Amino acid sequence: MINIGIMGLGTVGTGVVELLEKNQHVISQRLGEAINVKKILVRDLSKKRTPCAEGKLTLRAEDILEDEEINIVVELMGGEEPAKSYIKKALQNKKHVVTANKEVISKHGKELFELAEKSGVSLLFEASVGGGIPIIRPMKQCLAANRILKISGILNGTTNYILTQMEEKGRNFEEALREAQRLGYAESDPSDDIKGFDAARKLAILSSIAFNTRITPDKVYVEGIERIEPEDIKYAGELGYSIKLVASARKVGEREIEVIVAPVMLKQSHPLSAVRDVYNAILVEGDAVGKVMFFGQGAGKMPTASAVVADIMDAARQGMRRRIYCTCYDELKVIDVGSSTSRFYIRLKAKDRPGVLSKISGAFGENDISLNMVIQKDVKGNVAEIVMVTHQVPFRNLQKALDEIKDLQDVENVANVIRVEGATSDGIHGNHR
Ligand SMILES: NC(=O)c1ccc[n+]([C@@H]2O[C@H](COP(=O)([O-])OP(=O)(O)OC[C@H]3O[C@@H](n4cnc5c(N)ncnc54)[C@H](OP(=O)(O)O)[C@@H]3O)[C@@H](O)[C@H]2O)c1
Repeated sequence: MINIGIMGLGTVGTGVVELLEKNQHVISQRLGEAINVKKILVRDLSKKRTPCAEGKLTLRAEDILEDEEINIVVELMGGEEPAKSYIKKALQNKKHVVTANKEVISKHGKELFELAEKSGVSLLFEASVGGGIPIIRPMKQCLAANRILKISGILNGTTNYILTQMEEKGRNFEEALREAQRLGYAESDPSDDIKGFDAARKLAILSSIAFNTRITPDKVYVEGIERIEPEDIKYAGELGYSIKLVASARKVGEREIEVIVAPVMLKQSHPLSAVRDVYNAILVEGDAVGKVMFFGQGAGKMPTASAVVADIMDAARQGMRRRIYCTCYDELKVIDVGSSTSRFYIRLKAKDRPGVLSKISGAFGENDISLNMVIQKDVKGNVAEIVMVTHQVPFRNLQKALDEIKDLQDVENVANVIRVEGATSDGIHGNHR
């Protein structure tokens, strides 16, 4: 029998103890041994809990960390501290650790993996990215023979739900966010999700594995979805695109990578474009395998428990020789976002006067930006809404041109700028001018 200690009995912790009980027969058949939850750490003993946890609760972390009979510690509390210190202590005490904590893994992975190595134990974190979707182990094992060229994914269910609602129900951002909160998909303080920070932590973990180099969340360039307006969704739709919050990392030279979380206009035929509501998906491009996509529920009690329990079973099986090691042996440079190239959609408002468009085009031309398409949309009063799409340009050039455009007397504002996936030859067909 393998004894485990669980730290945290919230959404995921409850799913884990319930799944271990419900599927105990198949789990012990597959493992060759039974798993016994010996202790569960919580903050509040008076809360109503799942019956599966009866008689196991404790308020003292030492009851798990110092118990010699406990071989595996499962950290499901969330947050940076005290979770990180508990994980450290468990590893120092030569216990395998399973965690779903993207914050701790993305920020402190290096220190913790080194410690796990030193202690000869495993640190497993499948549930920290993509909830129930198997992605960490497939990247480390099944795709291990590939050089990864690119990963791109929808890694945050809350923002994907909001964008789906805006696209399909015509809701504005605030309405869609309120609906997500009502359904429990968004926290009362949703900033981490809508500003892209949650996706950035997950992308830091994925890109570290994909490119064998330690990427921390502060290296990821991040834009959130809070500036997306119904007009952007509408114009994207008219052009055959959907707007998604895409987390992507790709090799841009022998020794450099680009790591970005930002809203992107994806062709409606793009595989990530079909990912709706709270679902997540990760598209991996390897030099041998080509493109593979992983799709499923990126959060939730049982999907996340599915990944955590698989890690517990793996930790239970592992002697030293079967461990999945830390794979960050290289040191690649993350490029400055200014050098990253993309096509861009720009929506701006300007006075409907002769010569305005040529001044705007002039600013683009001076910064080596060629336009693939310009459409004049609604005119209200004497103000016209203009939508433009560029060819591939460095972000730095675009920012410089937009700074000049914002200063033009006849330009009211630059309402939004969104990356557009794909090469120009993929074809945006509009009214060229
Ligand atoms: N929820 C998901 O769908 C999901 C998906 C993927 C990954 N994750 C990750 O899984 C982890 C857990 O998420 P969750 O949604 O299950 O969180 P949660 O519902 O907020 O539960 C947290 C649990 O940890 C306990 N806890 C928190 N701080 C503690 C402390 N200082 N001492 C002792 N116990 C403490 C809480 O105790 P009390 O019950 O006594 O308050 C609670 O039982 C997080 O790292 C999260 O990012 C979650």
